[in-house]
Amino acid sequence: MPKNAPVSTMHQPLTPDYYSYEWAAVESVSCSTDGGVVVSWKDGTQFECHPLWLRENAPGPGGIDPQSKENDLDIVDLNLETRITNAHIEDGALVVRFEPEGRSVTFHPGWLRHVAEGGHQPFASLPEPQLWKATDFKEPPTYDGSSVLESDQVLSQWLDDLLTHGMARLTGLPTTTNTVQAVANRIGVLRETNFGTTWNVSVDLNPNSTANTSMGLPAHSDLPSRETPPGFQLLHCLKNTVHGGSSTMTDGLAVAKYFEDEEPEIFELLTSKKWTFSNRDGCEDHRWTGPIIDKGDGRVPWTFRAFHPVRGFPAMPYRDITNAYLAMQRLGHVANSDAFQIQYDFLPGDLVAFDNRRILHGRTAFDSTSGTRKLRGTYLDCDEVYSRVRVLRRYLATTSANKSLPTARKDCNA
Ligand SMILES: [Fe+2]
Repeated sequence: MPKNAPVSTMHQPLTPDYYSYEWAAVESVSCSTDGGVVVSWKDGTQFECHPLWLRENAPGPGGIDPQSKENDLDIVDLNLETRITNAHIEDGALVVRFEPEGRSVTFHPGWLRHVAEGGHQPFASLPEPQLWKATDFKEPPTYDGSSVLESDQVLSQWLDDLLTHGMARLTGLPTTTNTVQAVANRIGVLRETNFGTTWNVSVDLNPNSTANTSMGLPAHSDLPSRETPPGFQLLHCLKNTVHGGSSTMTDGLAVAKYFEDEEPEIFELLTSKKWTFSNRDGCEDHRWTGPIIDKGDGRVPWTFRAFHPVRGFPAMPYRDITNAYLAMQRLGHVANSDAFQIQYDFLPGDLVAFDNRRILHGRTAFDSTSGTRKLRGTYLDCDEVYSRVRVLRRYLATTSANKSLPTARKDCNA
């Protein structure tokens, strides 16, 4: 039973999710002229509930199914004339009567409060991104790898750092081929691409990617040639005995903020002029068109499309092309500058995770004749990481620490 629930409340009203809500008792309710209700709490918070939205979230048949906890009311069966003609408070819960149905329904006040405060929004329970420059870090925030593999609490802390700073590292992991997959499986479903579910980064005599050479790679993002480039990348170092080959990271959001504040005309070019990217080999032909900095809906994740080997064609009027090249060159200078870019060693057993759509990563050139450099990587979509962070927070807030978080799909509703 949630904290503060009245003793007389034997059964908590069903909510369309798997959360346990505090019993945030509603203080008053009034019916509005359009058939909805306005709910008020003691601290002055108010929530205007539309009758149609409240009706389809009503527990029970023709609303929230107790098994799936999803709305089973087909939109064509929703009576658009639905109105709330009577509403009152019972033990702090909202009770409304829907007409013309003539049905009374009780709503959980904690769930209503949660929605009133925007707790249902996609980013509500995720860490807020913090922009960083090279003065803030010398290397990514670092955790012990075996602890992340074994402890849900440490996994949660590591992922919080990953979302906050866009990068987080593990050290001391086994230098075996399947380690990167084992870590990724702690988070979610791996994203397969034409490079495979997991893939090698090593010098290839017949490379289909610049990554598999010994060339230096400036600040870039992977697979800008995709409609939705991979959200997160995990790179694990199995062996590194070469001279050179240091890793680099730049916070794209910090660079974007710099341009927005200091060089707004460059920011405008980077966010509006589009390019066509392509990623092709004998078996594949991926193409997508977008700006270098795609702000999406204005909220993270922004998508940085920055990798010259797969940027093929300007997708803009001829008259804009020179300025668009100028803007990209400014981005290259700033993203690879000492002010914004960190450079650090990548040692065997290290695994670095980063937001591929926010962080511009790279490496210095290395001498492939001086030794062996072998990395193994994988991708996860943003959705997988966000979901795991939300579930970890929900789980750790309500469960004893000695019980492991279920990872198998079939166990997740247990
Ligand atoms: Fe890369």
